[in-house]
Amino acid sequence: MAGMTSGIGLRPMTGADVAPVIALERGLFPKDAWTEAMLRGEMAEASRHYVVAQEGEGGAIVGYAGLRAVPPQGDVQTIAVAESHWRRGIGSTLLTELINEAGKRGVTDLFLEVRSDNPRAQELYRHFGFTEIGIRRRYYQDADAIVMRRSATVAERAAGGLSASANGTRADTRAATSPDLSTATGADATVTENEEKTR
Ligand SMILES: CC(C)(COP(=O)(O)OP(=O)(O)OC[C@H]1O[C@@H](n2cnc3c(N)ncnc32)[C@H](O)[C@@H]1OP(=O)(O)O)[C@@H](O)C(=O)NCCC(=O)NCCS
Repeated sequence: MAGMTSGIGLRPMTGADVAPVIALERGLFPKDAWTEAMLRGEMAEASRHYVVAQEGEGGAIVGYAGLRAVPPQGDVQTIAVAESHWRRGIGSTLLTELINEAGKRGVTDLFLEVRSDNPRAQELYRHFGFTEIGIRRRYYQDADAIVMRRSATVAERAAGGLSASANGTRADTRAATSPDLSTATGADATVTENEEKTR
């Protein structure tokens, strides 16, 4: 796993970050970028945890990520890194933060949707123990979504929740005690056209 670039730190996202984050968002998600209002709405929810990756103190925002935690379930709402900074471990650091925060909040099953034509992000998620549990046809206007889930291992459950440092011990994942696909797709059925889309 690539190490985090030195000189880049994570901190909670604030209102002052919205403009630079949305600028990144428009470049990275040209087909379905969130608006400022959507991001501010997300940040206002207590169940959310949004962070930015920043170059030095007061430097450029080069990545961001958001979590929705409604224990025992959680969702990776978004994760993105400026293209100029890809493959330096920033995406991994952001995902580590979300997984650890989810664990602290009592989340045992973390879900996400990823575009079927985004192998780079799928690979990142697989690295962290997410596995494919279903497909949501035409979730995006022009693509299907792959639904992925990362369930707490036996050891993680005993310790109180998900933890990114436990990644790599996937063999003891208790698939049998996790919600099965029909449960997951049942929950999916509550998604409406107007609901904000995770990625
Ligand atoms: C997906 C994304 C967040 C990864 O960020 P990143 O900072 O490059 O990630 P990392 O450097 O931590 O790389 C983590 C792993 O992702 C995978 N990965 C990253 N870039 C990759 C590439 N170009 N090709 C294949 N796999 C890649 C690798 O498995 C990598 O691990 P490795 O470097 O040990 O091989 C970034 O590419 C991005 O912002 N993409 C556009 C937005 C997006 O698609 N977000 C996800 C929406 S679901």
